[in-house]
Amino acid sequence: MNRSRYIIEGRESVPGWFERGDAELFNAIDLAQRKARVVGDILEIGCYQGSSTILLGYLRNPNERLVVCDLFQGVTPTLDNFHSRTDSYSDLSRESFEANYLQFHQQLPEIIEGSSTTLSANDFGQTFRLIHVDGSHEYEIVRSDLLLAKSLLKPGGFVIFDDIITLHTPGVTAAVWEGVFHDGLIPVFQTAKLYATWGRPIDVEIPKTLTAFSHKVAGHLMSHLEYSPGAPD
Ligand SMILES: C[S@@+](CC[C@H](N)C(=O)[O-])C[C@H]1O[C@@H](n2cnc3c(N)ncnc32)[C@H](O)[C@@H]1O
Repeated sequence: MNRSRYIIEGRESVPGWFERGDAELFNAIDLAQRKARVVGDILEIGCYQGSSTILLGYLRNPNERLVVCDLFQGVTPTLDNFHSRTDSYSDLSRESFEANYLQFHQQLPEIIEGSSTTLSANDFGQTFRLIHVDGSHEYEIVRSDLLLAKSLLKPGGFVIFDDIITLHTPGVTAAVWEGVFHDGLIPVFQTAKLYATWGRPIDVEIPKTLTAFSHKVAGHLMSHLEYSPGAPD
């Protein structure tokens, strides 16, 4: 299956929360980076059963690394009790992630089993062009993920934070907008995720299935994007 088929139908066969509009936007950013000759590694924090990771596997070029980090054992026990009360994760095992991933790719990505808070910029360097932060929803951990991303992201790269405006994730919203106000993070697109960067964003051609609405927020011109199911593929 190629990446387009994965975005349209393959994705639906893998449990997770990776929406079609976001999958198309990930793909559009990858195409824009290729055009701008931005080469670099890809990092995902929080892969669950692999829905978004599998697409990242399609975006990775042979000379680039795909690194994923997940606890694979349950949500960090904290005051944030949303997941334990709603039982939203049916299967957090590494085995399920790997089995799903290998249905679409021949080789697994580099897997780091543990909390993203144990990752250090010194272990990697500023080599990443795409970073998908979709792990813990807690303020302190997302703040730590954001500062890590700031050290790892190359010019022309994008960092993408999941659940930026979801009802049950105020910690993500707080940490990410703190990054905008205090750490130079530049918001570019918003769906349920915030797509952002440091430095000058590269131009991205918005897929036809997404409608863009412009906003000026704290001096930044950004767009929120809505997926229109009726639009042509
Ligand atoms: C919302 S799910 C990821 C969804 C996935 N990216 C998708 O698109 O379907 C969140 C994942 O983050 C993991 N996680 C939670 N806290 C984490 C932490 N501190 N470090 C790394 N992963 C974490 C959970 O185990 C879970 O697999």
